[in-house]
Amino acid sequence: MDVFKIEGGCPLSGTVEAGGAKNAALPIFAATLLTGGVCRINGVPDLTDIRFMAKILRYLGARVEQCGPHTWEVEAKDVHHQAPYELVRQMRASICLLGPLVGRLRKAEVSLPGGCVIGPRPIDLHLKGLARLGCKIDIRKGYVEVDGSGLCGDYLYLGGRHGSTVTGTANMIMAAVLAPGTTRIESAACEPEVVDLCQMLVKMGAKIEGVGSHYLKIEGVQELHGCEHTVVPDRIEAGTLLIAGAMTQSEVTVQNVIPGHMRALLDALEGAGLPFECQPDQRQITVFKQDAPLKPVEIITLPHPGFPTDLQAQMLALMAITPGLSFITERVYPNRFMHVPELLRMGAQVSMEGASAVINGGGRLYGAPVMASDLRASAALVLAGLAAEGTTWIQRIYHLDRGYEQLEIKLNRLGASVERLSQDALPSDLIEEG
Ligand code: EPU
Repeated sequence: MDVFKIEGGCPLSGTVEAGGAKNAALPIFAATLLTGGVCRINGVPDLTDIRFMAKILRYLGARVEQCGPHTWEVEAKDVHHQAPYELVRQMRASICLLGPLVGRLRKAEVSLPGGCVIGPRPIDLHLKGLARLGCKIDIRKGYVEVDGSGLCGDYLYLGGRHGSTVTGTANMIMAAVLAPGTTRIESAACEPEVVDLCQMLVKMGAKIEGVGSHYLKIEGVQELHGCEHTVVPDRIEAGTLLIAGAMTQSEVTVQNVIPGHMRALLDALEGAGLPFECQPDQRQITVFKQDAPLKPVEIITLPHPGFPTDLQAQMLALMAITPGLSFITERVYPNRFMHVPELLRMGAQVSMEGASAVINGGGRLYGAPVMASDLRASAALVLAGLAAEGTTWIQRIYHLDRGYEQLEIKLNRLGASVERLSQDALPSDLIEEG
């Protein structure tokens, strides 16, 4: 296992490129199961989660090849319908195999992924949706077993307690594109990653109307064909890099971004008084050196186009060094605050009121040994380490490798000092027991 050693206080400057979006690439890989044709996918980030998905597709019988650093080819001529626990438990997103397996094979047996550190992540909306599409569903021995022999288009409402569901919407779309008849999905998620999936499916021959809205109309077709598609840029990686610039009071340009996908973050940064400039034609955003301290903000995470939960931890780190009281409320994953106790160890002043964090910002952060707990919490700790005085050691950075490609290399090119070391390099008093 690797660890990060970060020397804080280095100013950043320069240009950095965001990669393709993990959360678009994963359902797009799953969508390749909908055809026996060849799908060539460009702009795929090089991440452990992508390699997990490739492994599962191979297990299901597909030919999966990495043709270049960010290009993959999948040909799913003969596939079977069972995705076992040993594979699925490694990555929750494997649940997005349900829709394509049901669409293509009219049956699926996918293990339930199990617990998640960011809080309960039920799949009731996925199952309700599939039932509406005529499927019979059984939960047996930890598996969802779907008999889709009666698959047929219908009306679905996908709103839940926390809004729409991203992967649930992806699953329903992928089942519906090959279902006879018309499917109407209301309260569909409209995240850019869902839009990207729809765009790929349309290239494959699917008939989808309303793409990008909360209301989708899908006419089922008999079969889909292969296609070539480039994954949409990762708005969460881009946002993390922009916040890195803000945290170090530096001028940083992030390329391969679509500013229109990042309105809620940009609105929050504008509210905080951060100077920045968007150049949509060049697909880039620059944050500038601040000449006055930033201002506190009040943020509520919501489904798109609201403030993304996947940037909540990073924004909280920024508010920890911003003078004044900031309020951050989680409406998507009310328990997603594992970064808070670690940031407290670095000197942040944060108190929790239910699903809201009250941040009394503006004090200094100090380097400390901290523990990464999930992907975005890890990113927040890296950002805090960049701004902190002294050395920060971050353990369990395998979480980070699931969703950020070479984050330390990108940051170091901008002037940061982030070393990836083996666990053996940890000072002896920091080694975990047990
Ligand atoms: N929910 C239900 N029932 C369901 C499905 C979801 O109650 O059947 C609830 C969830 O518990 C949560 C909310 O609805 O409170 C939203 O969940 P959603 O289904 O939208 O999340 P997801 O599809 O499982 C994706 C991303 C997450 C991101 C969320 C929210 C992928 C692979 N994952 O998860 O990304 O946080 O949408 O935007 O696309 C990450 O990248 O770090 C990450 C966790």
